[in-house]
Amino acid sequence: MAWTRTHAGVLIPAHLAIIMDGNGRWAAARGLERKEGHKAGASNIMRICEACQERGIATLSLFAFSTENWARPKSEIDALFDIASDYFSNSFLKFPSMGIRLNVIGSRKELPGPLKIMIAKAEKANPKSYSLTLNMAVNYGGKWDITQSAKKMAERCLVGGMLPSEINEQALEQGLSTSGQPLVDLLIRTSGEQRISNFLIWQCAYSELYFTAKHWPEFDEAELDAALEEYSRRTRKFGGLA
Ligand code: IPE
Ligand code: IPE
Ligand code: MG
Repeated sequence: MAWTRTHAGVLIPAHLAIIMDGNGRWAAARGLERKEGHKAGASNIMRICEACQERGIATLSLFAFSTENWARPKSEIDALFDIASDYFSNSFLKFPSMGIRLNVIGSRKELPGPLKIMIAKAEKANPKSYSLTLNMAVNYGGKWDITQSAKKMAERCLVGGMLPSEINEQALEQGLSTSGQPLVDLLIRTSGEQRISNFLIWQCAYSELYFTAKHWPEFDEAELDAALEEYSRRTRKFGGLA
């Protein structure tokens, strides 16, 4: 269970996850192309990382591209990967000096070659000391995560001396892309949709859920504080009694 930390009177989740939704609607409301919404959304990432650091949130997971987003037109996917490449090769290089450790989660093999190289380079630059671990979910799906962990256990059973009887929740959790991190305490989704869309489904099994109508590009510090205040008012029971 998460340890509790407070900041300015509110309870701080050890692990915050955000489904950054609504870039397209933000753009449409302004008569702009969808890709302009994605650019505005990407530029909001730094602000929210810093806000999380200021509030003492140690682990932040951001959903940038899902395993289902391949269903979008190729032109939009290309635009998204262009924006991602720009951030991984420029802005995100500031993470080490900001005390941010980057952990890109998701299936890498389908990503464009140059982007894969940029991601590897950005992760290699991770600092020794940091106050925030940032899980950036790119081509990520909760089902993919559980499946790849199951595959690792199957491999261990075949060649690593693991017994099928040793497969348990702890072993599966250790193989997830968030291994060693606390489970998600609070999941925020912007832009009004009230679903998990295959984000960290195992890790969110007992998360508090918070939905806001604000589109991701306009999700700011005040919005984050509103979510944290609401989280502070929740009673978490984990199946027990309050
Ligand atoms: C979230 O914004 C970004 C990605 C899924 C890549 P959307 O692109 O889903 O924006 P809406 O939901 O169409 O407004
Ligand atoms: C979820 O948003 C994925 C990301 C934010 C990256 P979507 O916009 O793709 O989700 P659905 O399709 O509305 O469920
Ligand atoms: Mg959407």
